[in-house]
This record gives sequence, structure tokens and C-alpha cells, in this order.
Amino acid sequence: MNKGYLDNLFDLANKVVLMTGATGQLGFEVCKAFEKAGSTVFATDKAINTKKVIDSKQVKYFEMDITDKASIIQGMDRVYAEYDHLDVLINNAGVSCFEPYEERPEESFDWVMDVNLKGTFLCIQAYANEIKEKKHDGSIINIGSIYGLISPDFRIYTDCKRMNSEVYGATKAAVIQMTRYFAVHLARYGIRVNSVSPGGIFNTESPQGEDFVENYSYRCPMGRMANCEEMIGGILYLASSAAGYTTGQNLVIDGGMSCW
Ligand SMILES: NC(=O)c1ccc[n+]([C@@H]2O[C@H](COP(=O)([O-])OP(=O)(O)OC[C@H]3O[C@@H](n4cnc5c(N)ncnc54)[C@H](O)[C@@H]3O)[C@@H](O)[C@H]2O)c1
Repeated sequence: MNKGYLDNLFDLANKVVLMTGATGQLGFEVCKAFEKAGSTVFATDKAINTKKVIDSKQVKYFEMDITDKASIIQGMDRVYAEYDHLDVLINNAGVSCFEPYEERPEESFDWVMDVNLKGTFLCIQAYANEIKEKKHDGSIINIGSIYGLISPDFRIYTDCKRMNSEVYGATKAAVIQMTRYFAVHLARYGIRVNSVSPGGIFNTESPQGEDFVENYSYRCPMGRMANCEEMIGGILYLASSAAGYTTGQNLVIDGGMSCW
């Protein structure tokens, strides 16, 4: 077998990546994967969780609040001050609220909209404006969710206090749709835009609850929740030239959960 062939197809060495929500559960794994692949990662978060920091010169941490346009532009400036290209933007930062919808304060609703939807838009806007000026190719990967495609089954939340909210699903559906919008609008500038929609990821540090995990696993065709690392292959693929003709797509990684 010609090993070099696959290496070239999926080569991410020397790519420059900007990641939002980089010190959360998924963000940490994604940063680690790009670092191992030889990329340089600008790992940003609203507040850096020092327990989720990778000790490598290739991963550069700084604070960036995606609800604040000035903070995003500052972040982009920081990347372009060091490199003349930013190859991959990963819009991963996301939040949810968990009160029953009957009691949802407007502030909770607005907060989820601001981070998940407006924040993702502001990052895409800033990146697209940079690329139009700097004239290099790029790739955007938005993190959606299966709850942007299907409703949660509330019967399975028996011992899990993290009841999925209508606004969370609505923002994720919007992110998946915005992916298509920008795939169409940014293709002419050489920017591919795709999303990855994970199913429920088991949280090793703060487990969802035994009953919930059992119920979710029963509902899921593959019989279990996802491990965080199982999102990596799809994200690296979309960032690589193996996906060079792929844009506007939503890659669902959910063990088949959304198939019924
Ligand atoms: N965990 C799951 O089961 C699951 C399933 C489907 C989709 N997702 C999505 O995956 C992404 C990552 O989720 P996670 O499970 O790692 O969650 P997480 O809470 O561990 O990480 C989210 C990160 O976003 C950051 N963040 C919040 N507000 C921000 C802001 N204003 N500016 C910048 N950063 C901000 C947080 O500080 C945190 O580090 C989210 O978009 C989430 O909706 C998660």
C-alpha cells in the first residue's frame, strides 16, 4: 500500500486553526487532535479552563468571547499578525439552559441565541471578511447537534437534570441552515462551510445519570452514547483536502440516533 497517498489526502500539518470553546469537553479533544496532526491551533474560549489546556507550543490559548464582535476581531487580528492565512475556523462554543420551558426567563433564551447563533454568525462574518481581503482558501466547521434535527425524547431524562431546551435545538437547526447559506455565499472565495452534528456525548467528568445513560442507549441504534473522541474523524476529514469538494453538508455522528 502507498502510505504516502493517504497521508497527503488527510494532511493537516502546518494548517492554522482557530477554535472557539477550546477548553470545553469537545473543544479540548479537537485541539488535541489538530495538534497531533501537526496543525497550529489558536485555542480560544470565553474563559480559559486551565484544566483543559494542552501543553504544546503548537496550541496557543487566549480569551475570545464570541458574543462580542470586538473580541472576535481582536482574535482574528492576533492570528493574522502571526500567519498570513487561517485555514480552518471551528465554531464549537455552545451553551444551553435547562429550566422547564414554562419557567424559562427571557434572559436564558437570549443567552443561548446570542452564543450559539449570533456568536457563530459573528465568527463567520469576521473570518469571511478577512479571507476576502487576504485572498486564501479556508474551511469553516460549525458544531451543530442532533437536536437541531430531531426533538429530544423527554421520557429518557428520568434522573438527568440537563433537560434539553427548545431554544438549544432551534439554535442548532439555525446553525445547520446557516452552514448551507454560507456554503453558497462563500464558495466563490474558496471557503468551504460544513457542520458536524454530534449525538449525546457521554460526559466522563460530569456523567449524565445512570438511568439517562441507560435510556439513551436503549433509544440509540448503536446501543450507547458517543465518546468525545468519536467526533474527531469527521472534523479532521472536513478540514482536510479529502473533503475538498464538500461544502454545505451536515455530518451527523450519532450512532444512528436520528435515523428513526
Ligand atoms: N456534549 C454533547 O453531548 C453535545 C452534543 C451535541 C452537540 N454538542 C455541541 O458541541 C459543542 C461543544 O460542547 P461541549 O459538550 O464541549 O460543551 P462544553 O460546555 O464542555 O464546552 C463549551 C465551551 O464553550 C465556551 N463558551 C461558552 N460561551 C462562550 C462565549 N460567549 N464565547 C466563547 N466561548 C464560550 C465554554 O466556556 C466552554 O468551554 C457545543 O456547540 C455543543 O452544543 C455537544
